[in-house]
Amino acid sequence: MNKKIAVIRGDGIGPEIVNEAIKVLDKVAEKFGHTFEYINADMGGCAIDKYGDPLPQHELDKCLSADSVLLGAVGGPKWDSVPGNLRPEKGLLRIRAGMGVYSNNRPAKIWPQLASASPLKPEIVEKGIDFIIVRELIGGVYFGEHKTYEQGGEKVSEDVMKYSESEIERIGRIGFETARKRRKKLCSVEKSNVLDTSRLWKAVIHRLAEEYPDVELTDMLVDNCAMQIVKNPAQFDVIVTENMFGDILSDEASMITGSIGMIPSSSLGAGSNGLYEPIHGSAPDIAGQDKANPIGTVLSAAMMLRFSFDMPKEADSIEAAVNKVLSDGYRTGDIMQEGMKRVGCAEMGSLIAQAI
Ligand code: IPM
Ligand code: MG
Repeated sequence: MNKKIAVIRGDGIGPEIVNEAIKVLDKVAEKFGHTFEYINADMGGCAIDKYGDPLPQHELDKCLSADSVLLGAVGGPKWDSVPGNLRPEKGLLRIRAGMGVYSNNRPAKIWPQLASASPLKPEIVEKGIDFIIVRELIGGVYFGEHKTYEQGGEKVSEDVMKYSESEIERIGRIGFETARKRRKKLCSVEKSNVLDTSRLWKAVIHRLAEEYPDVELTDMLVDNCAMQIVKNPAQFDVIVTENMFGDILSDEASMITGSIGMIPSSSLGAGSNGLYEPIHGSAPDIAGQDKANPIGTVLSAAMMLRFSFDMPKEADSIEAAVNKVLSDGYRTGDIMQEGMKRVGCAEMGSLIAQAI
């Protein structure tokens, strides 16, 4: 197959980790007889420097015309003082909205080789950690009106959180469908004891549940969910939640698996063109030092093959290669353990590519 992949390296460690994912994709292409054509697109701080805009329309157009998008990370202290609507992160929100990718899928799965890197007690980890957070990605408070104004001699700010039934329904469906392909347990997370958007969320999810009698649905308040993720993560199969709750819970979920550097994500909408990115940020403190863990990005590339290109064997080969390299004892700094072999970002990428 011939596929066009838009590549956004972005800022900080973005370029290093994306280069390793491309190394791995090239090896897959060679082994399975595919051609991957890469189109570079600028987004984030580097686009602000070049064009004065974190995602100019011509760069978004490149992404829309590709078969999928592979993204490293954006942002950094250099752009901390630019106005809110021109921040690097705005580019990320605009590409998500521009591609219409409302469903963000973030797996939290422990690699047995890294079990001791989890901050949780062994008796909790032993029960298993293998769940997915399905995060609504293009609605809620992230996309409501944001404003700051003077009132009564002081500054006041507002961020509007808004959800419609149809927005909740389409992400709810992804939650149920995802659970149906797994252990058939869906936990809907909200704050219905306080928020109207959450009460609507809960009502829509329960209405949908009638279409999925084979899936066991539970409701959980977001504060309790934050607690349950560290207390008894084995109880979760699929969590479906709104944008900001999903942002927060997915960082927590990644940490209990050992390192945020290991976690990939896929974002999909109505079509097959998806956005694939590790869930971590641009880590400016270690950028350009060959210290970053490229595995989250490499596994994001595997998700691209699986979900957008319908190449399950190829995706399996990447995941098996990561498994082998970890079993062989290779570790980047963030997952380093005693007795293991410490490698840099580029060597980790090469080792995974070789193992394909
Ligand atoms: C994420 C990130 C982004 C988000 C930031 C960088 C805007 O934290 O992908 O989780 O909040 O969605
Ligand atoms: Mg986040």
